[in-house]
Amino acid sequence: MNADILNLLRDPAGVPFYPIVFQGLYILTWALHALFVFLSIGSLGLSLYGTYKQKEDETWKVITPHLIQTGKLSVSLLIVLGVAPLLFTQVIYDPNWYTINTLSGLWVVIFIYTLLVGYSMYYWYYYANKKGSSSSKLIGVISFCLLVFAGLLMHVFSVQSIQPEKWMQWYAPNGVVDTSGLTFNPETIRFLFLMSLSIPAIGLFLQNYSDFLQSTKKLSIELLERVKNLGRKISTFGFFINLVLFLAWTFQINKMADIYTILIVVFTVIMLFISNKMNNSYFSSILFIVFLLAISGFREYLRFNIMNNLGYNVYDYPLNIEWASVSMFILTFLSLGGVGVTFIGTMAWKVGKSDGYFDASKDKAVTFMANSLLWILSSWCVVYFAWGFFVLFKNSL
Ligand code: HEM
Repeated sequence: MNADILNLLRDPAGVPFYPIVFQGLYILTWALHALFVFLSIGSLGLSLYGTYKQKEDETWKVITPHLIQTGKLSVSLLIVLGVAPLLFTQVIYDPNWYTINTLSGLWVVIFIYTLLVGYSMYYWYYYANKKGSSSSKLIGVISFCLLVFAGLLMHVFSVQSIQPEKWMQWYAPNGVVDTSGLTFNPETIRFLFLMSLSIPAIGLFLQNYSDFLQSTKKLSIELLERVKNLGRKISTFGFFINLVLFLAWTFQINKMADIYTILIVVFTVIMLFISNKMNNSYFSSILFIVFLLAISGFREYLRFNIMNNLGYNVYDYPLNIEWASVSMFILTFLSLGGVGVTFIGTMAWKVGKSDGYFDASKDKAVTFMANSLLWILSSWCVVYFAWGFFVLFKNSL
């Protein structure tokens, strides 16, 4: 692959801010996307086991509907949080992303419908389990398979996009152009490693669940202890599986002796012990987020090196700083994003901690945040549209 072609495929308008910032934001937001991917797959997967046990086992009777609910909310968060890394990838690695969206165009369309049907069936599973319907297990299994398949498609797009030397061969195998849009080349071990991160994610979640509810009167202490122990076992087992698969993957791509690989191996071993021994599960969960950031950084490290060796360096991307859009981004992020997330997070925390009915209108902090958010959102809409129309008319009149 000739680097000139890759560089020609870049956006002639350049990037609106320093590429390293987009790279950092990509690493951060992909880690958050991944957190909810793993939490949703983990809780949906474990809830399927729960549907078999819930009839005769008190613990599973309590946690199965909660697992289903957690997974259901996580899917919506993974979708929202998936958009951000998608945008950052498109800014600095646009030649890669758009080429793959052409070569695997039909799979991209199939991805949307897989997600749509998979998520809709998740709601069906949720209601069927609530009603105690016997069909809920089958519906849940289909939803789980569809969501995992959506992840497999995302994985295929990711790994194909970092193999520019094979694009020509996929585009025209044996010299005959293939316009089916069905190019599909997964890297099985990488995918298995990533999906296996769902196991410690749900193990840690169960520990958080137990710690969070300890201070309320909602569930008995014995039941919460059982859940915590279950969470401990699952996360320890999960980190062990992660370690094996990570070693297998790095061996396959010839990166086993790389310093970054060694760092992640050490981190995984630390996580294995911490998730098992540490009593404060909030601390282990925060460390898990740092661990996901390290994995996200590793993905980017691989991509950056592959592309740089081909002569495509993101730091050489033509720069055309647009202060207007950069300030709009920062202001939106801090005002709407910051206050919005704090408001929703605080309310969810207080609802969970209250033993009876939580009246948000009587809570000063929540009411203050809700009112501030309304004002911020209204002003944001005015600024957004006024600014947009000003630029539009300035450019077109
Ligand atoms: C249930 C649905 C989904 C699952 C299970 C899932 C899972 C994954 C996995 C496992 C990867 C890593 C692939 C690899 O590195 O080999 C990934 C990457 C990614 N996903 Fe998702 N994903 C889902 C939906 C979405 C959605 C809806 C979006 C966007 C709105 C999205 C955006 C991304 C992006 C941007 C990447 C990184 C691509 C790259 O730069 O290489 N994902 N996803």
